[in-house]
Amino acid sequence: MSDKKILIFYGTRFGATEGVAGKMAELARENGIQTEVFNLKDLPGDRIPNFGDYDGIMIGSSIKIGQWTRDVKRFVGNYKDELNSFKGKKGFFVCSAYAADPDSYERVKVEYTKDACEKLGVEKLDLYDAFGGLMDFSETSRMGWLDKQLLKMAAKVASGEKAEDGSYNDLRDWDQIENFTLEFFKKL
Ligand SMILES: Cc1cc2nc3c(=O)[nH]c(=O)nc-3n(C[C@H](O)[C@H](O)[C@H](O)COP(=O)(O)O)c2cc1C
Repeated sequence: MSDKKILIFYGTRFGATEGVAGKMAELARENGIQTEVFNLKDLPGDRIPNFGDYDGIMIGSSIKIGQWTRDVKRFVGNYKDELNSFKGKKGFFVCSAYAADPDSYERVKVEYTKDACEKLGVEKLDLYDAFGGLMDFSETSRMGWLDKQLLKMAAKVASGEKAEDGSYNDLRDWDQIENFTLEFFKKL
C-alpha cells in the first residue's frame, strides 16, 4: 500500500466518462493508491475536498457539440489556481466520438483538453488524452430522442454509414485508458 492519494472529478452526460473515471479508480485501488471520485454534478461547492491533502488530480469530461459539461467548465474556471498547484501531477481526459476516429484523434486530443484548459487559465497539463465515447441508441440509453437523432446524423456524416436503431456502440479503448492511467500513477 502506497501513501499516495488522488482526486478524480468528472462530468458525464451519457455515461462514458463516468465509466472511465470508475475504471481509473479501480486501477488506483489495485495499485494501492487512495482515491476519491466525484461526479461534479453531485458536488456542492462547500463539499469540495481540501486539494492540499492529495498528490494528484485527474479531471474528465464528456464532449457535446465540442463542449465539456457545464459543471466541468465551472469547476476548472473556479479552481484553476488550485489545479495549477498540482505541478507535474494533473491530468485531463475527455470522452468523445471523434476521439475514436483516427483522422480526428490528434486534433481533438489537444483541442478538447489542453487548449480548452489553457483558455480557462490552467497553466500546464501534465497528461491529457481523448478516449472514444458511447453511441448508445438502445432503449436503456441515457440519450434522449433529440440527442440520438443529432448523433445519428453526425455519425452518418463522419462514416458515411447509418447507425442502426437500437444499437449500442462503445468506442472506448480500454487498453488506451489503462496505459494513460498507469502513466499518471508514475508521476505521483
Ligand atoms: C448531441 C450530441 C453532440 C455531440 N457532439 C460531439 C462533438 O462535438 N464531438 C465529439 O467528439 N463527440 C460528440 N458527441 C459524442 C459524445 O462525445 C459521446 O457520446 C460521449 O460518450 C459523451 O460522453 P459521456 O457519455 O460521458 O456523456 C456528441 C453526442 C451527442 C449526442
